[in-house]
Amino acid sequence: MSAITIPAGMPQYDDVPRFDVAAVRADFPILDREVNGHRLVYLDSANTSHKPRQVLDVLREHYERHNANVSRSVHTLGTEATEAYEGARAKIAAFIGAPGVDEVVFTKNSTEAINMVAYAFSNASPRADATAPAAPSRETDERFRLGPGDEIVISEMEHHSNIVPWQLLCERTGATLRWFPVTEHGRLDESGLDDLVNERTKLVSLVHMSNILGTVNATSRITARVREVGALLLLDCSQSVPHLPMDVVDYDVDFIVFTGHKMCGPTGIGVLWGRGELLAAMPPVLGGGSMIETVTMARSTFAAPPARFEAGTPPIAEAVALGAAVDYLTGIGMRSVQWHEKELTAYALDALGTVPGLRVFGPATPVGRGGTISFALGDVHPHDVGQVLDSLGVQVRVGHHCARPVCARYGVPAMTRASFYLYTTTEEIDALVAGLEQVRKVFE
Ligand code: ALA
Repeated sequence: MSAITIPAGMPQYDDVPRFDVAAVRADFPILDREVNGHRLVYLDSANTSHKPRQVLDVLREHYERHNANVSRSVHTLGTEATEAYEGARAKIAAFIGAPGVDEVVFTKNSTEAINMVAYAFSNASPRADATAPAAPSRETDERFRLGPGDEIVISEMEHHSNIVPWQLLCERTGATLRWFPVTEHGRLDESGLDDLVNERTKLVSLVHMSNILGTVNATSRITARVREVGALLLLDCSQSVPHLPMDVVDYDVDFIVFTGHKMCGPTGIGVLWGRGELLAAMPPVLGGGSMIETVTMARSTFAAPPARFEAGTPPIAEAVALGAAVDYLTGIGMRSVQWHEKELTAYALDALGTVPGLRVFGPATPVGRGGTISFALGDVHPHDVGQVLDSLGVQVRVGHHCARPVCARYGVPAMTRASFYLYTTTEEIDALVAGLEQVRKVFE
């Protein structure tokens, strides 16, 4: 591997314990399989990660031994299921440094979590549409009320899930959507920070690590400005919580969202974390069973968080398995995962630099970026690149990566993306580079 020089003043990694990648790989049954007659080379973990046996076993055991609905049954199985579900919540709270276990709300995924916050704003706000009722009938916290003149700030490097909900919210309320541009080198352009985040700003919703550029955004300047103007800050941590240590208190954020399937857990489970006091002030979004305090035929009152935001039967086994995924990652150590991926990223940036005609989008160094690298290979369409690589067993994602504004920013319709995780090896990066040489032979 090539050596990485971390600039002075940034965290150094000399003390980070290394883990045995071969032993980790042995935990993931799928990594044994072949694709199109070749050894599987899975470089699409930003899309979804694989699941270790330790997580799969817990999922199976939950259904085989403890299956029951949660928070509503007094029988033994119901108690076991509830304890497992709430136990998972406690593990996840500890994993992200949450001061309160009840600050962790289970959702379906990050997209749902972001939409929940957006709809909470809607439910607290008058409709821009004149035919709708002029004001909500319940008292709502001023921080969630939006209207003409108010602003929401995002960035040009967001996933669509952190763009579209805010566009829709602005359409519903008459608020204005604004955004940070992205520099040529794939960094957030903060030069207009003081203008962009101002007294009219109600919420800044920013990606922590870009799913397409790999950029890890340094948030401290933005957080300071958000606090100065009294706005709220949401971080989309879908691509960061799986790959680096997170402490919501250190980051001084108001909300974070992330998803289980990108961090060794199952699909169908995600997390909205919010500061306890803020969640307590947040209006409900989905109504139904388990989220109420009392119900009469005319009116209902609502449970405290997190139940207020978990209407209906939740994804119980998925939550329990996400708890197992958190145990697995904690056992390895998130700083170790982060360092492994940093070394892989340095190796990959060097290796991809040897491929003639290859253009990497996003930061060119492994500092302030994670192990997700998007690129173009000359004029070859990314779908052709992906198809040739697939024929060699190499799985990458091609397309706009649900981040079309980033593609537009760099003047391309699509990109090819390789993304790494704790089980990725330098040999797999070599296989990618060899595959790209094949692509060149076929198309150039
Ligand atoms: N957000 C996922 C990705 O970037 C689906 O591939």
